[in-house]
Amino acid sequence: MKKVKDDGLLIDSAGCWAERKYDLIDQYANMFATSMKNRWDNRIYIDLFSSSGYAQIRGTDNIVMTSPLIAADVRNKFDKYIFCDCDPVKIDSLKRRVTRDFPEIIADYVIGDINDSVNEVLKKLPKFSSDFTGLTFCLVDPYKLDNLSFETILSLSKYRIDFMILIPSFMDINRNEKNYIKEDSNLVSKFLDTRNWRELWEETKNNGMTFGTFFVKLFNQRMESAGFLKLYDNEFVLIRNPENKSPLYHLAFYSKSELGKKFWNNAIKGTSNQIELF
Ligand SMILES: C[S@@+](CC[C@H](N)C(=O)[O-])C[C@H]1O[C@@H](n2cnc3c(N)ncnc32)[C@H](O)[C@@H]1O
Repeated sequence: MKKVKDDGLLIDSAGCWAERKYDLIDQYANMFATSMKNRWDNRIYIDLFSSSGYAQIRGTDNIVMTSPLIAADVRNKFDKYIFCDCDPVKIDSLKRRVTRDFPEIIADYVIGDINDSVNEVLKKLPKFSSDFTGLTFCLVDPYKLDNLSFETILSLSKYRIDFMILIPSFMDINRNEKNYIKEDSNLVSKFLDTRNWRELWEETKNNGMTFGTFFVKLFNQRMESAGFLKLYDNEFVLIRNPENKSPLYHLAFYSKSELGKKFWNNAIKGTSNQIELF
């Protein structure tokens, strides 16, 4: 983790388990930005749920860089960064940090619910062509199901893009199963863009699978049908609370290219002393 000092701007708070997520983002973003430098004319980083760039690890004095600043800090900078968040105060703190500490990067900011403002993100992408190629790495780090609609992923998928996605499988989906399976809840349908999941869950639930794991498997199928390479069980990273070992969320990665998957698997290996797979 990249430690920083309190700078008087807004600081989020994160559980100690976030360390693994930050290490993986760091490893993957560095690998992507460096290896793709000479293969593509333009490399873009999009953070759909950026937040402020700093977080204090709960129960400690440690303040660390979070996803947008970890990406800004890579050795070979991306050609462009697009940072999004619905909270204007968080974006304001992030913008001040980026301007102060990474004045050399080209950064755009999108404030608003990403599911309503994804077209604004698309407009900020350069116009790619066979003479000017571009590849995007998009980090998707929502708190809960409600934050993301699959439509947003599909809109971005019209471009050459790799996604690293946090699926809140246990901290939200499994924990709130009772609410999500209610007939009048459309949040699972919205996140997965599929309506027949209730019947599939009825068929599956007696096999001993948790709702959270069922959801991850269905999400994997949805990404595959959107044209991405499916992840095998040993390519998901399961993050647990180190104190009581309870599972919290899955980190997943989707690319249309085998090379992208190779980088992901290398990033997993590079941090594997801390990591549990599916
Ligand atoms: C889990 S935090 C992101 C943490 C950050 N990526 C990190 O590395 O620690 C989720 C962020 O998403 C924002 N958010 C939640 N729902 C959103 C939505 N629908 N559109 C845009 N931002 C949203 C919240 O304000 C919050 O800052």
